[in-house]
Amino acid sequence: MLSTVRANADKGPTRALNVREIPFLGVGLGYRAEFRQELLANRTQVDFLELMVEHFLDMPPEQMGDAPLLAEQFDIVVHGLDLSIGTVKPLRLDYLANMHELVVATGAHWASDHLSMTSVPGRAIGNLTPLPLNHEMADYLIQKCRQAARVLPVPFLLENISVLFRPAPDGMTEQAFITEVVQGADIFLLLDLTNILNNSINGRFDACDYLEGLPLDRVVQIHLAGGFALDDVLLDTHSGPVPPEAFELLRYAARRMPALRAVMIERDQNFPPFQTLLEELDATREVLCTAWAPHFASGLVAAPTWLVGRAGAG
Ligand SMILES: [Fe+2]
Repeated sequence: MLSTVRANADKGPTRALNVREIPFLGVGLGYRAEFRQELLANRTQVDFLELMVEHFLDMPPEQMGDAPLLAEQFDIVVHGLDLSIGTVKPLRLDYLANMHELVVATGAHWASDHLSMTSVPGRAIGNLTPLPLNHEMADYLIQKCRQAARVLPVPFLLENISVLFRPAPDGMTEQAFITEVVQGADIFLLLDLTNILNNSINGRFDACDYLEGLPLDRVVQIHLAGGFALDDVLLDTHSGPVPPEAFELLRYAARRMPALRAVMIERDQNFPPFQTLLEELDATREVLCTAWAPHFASGLVAAPTWLVGRAGAG
């Protein structure tokens, strides 16, 4: 696998990205083994799962073996934490080979990682760390994103991160930076709305205004999560319920995102009863009904069963 990845990174085929070929997955969960049993018992109430590269690769065989079993029952997307695409050193082809392997093993529809770095040359940082916002870094990322997109057999998405500090302003807004990278590399966006909400409250800007500066036509997936406040600073810990403000932001955003195919709730700790997560999924569906109804009105694309008959689905 690694040799194929190496060859494709340099001169592999560039796939034409047609968003119409990306399927609607619906409303799903980031998979965590902690709720595996309840998940399988409520299989029909979760439309898709996001599997983390770090949870399945370089793990005991029984754990890796669980990925195809989950894929037999759910649509899958793959997500990575540690590609560290912003680190100024060659792209981590070993990591992409793992991502590729998980994509193939599960028939995943797309793969994503973060627009950030988790290491600097020679040293791990251990956190998703913001990048300098300038054209030089954007050009550098465009080349690496193109390499990643050539390596992977599915669309490649980058996710915006939660930011507690920023490097000094360097001539570009974050939205302009994200737009330049995503459009320049011809890839898609995984937009974490809770990260935007937290950043807007911590950084005192308007989240809706911020959204208007992004290439919303490139958003394929959304993350929602809840965290907690420490000394008035909101932290992205995926440890609490999705706040009402995040659902409101979803309501505002979803109808502006023609390529949106999946909305997912991240819960990584402090797990509630599984029924609570199912209720959050249903609250998400309620918000999406109106935004997604026009996609299915023509009948060219089959509407998910949960959309049929809901208020506003017309
Ligand atoms: Fe996220």
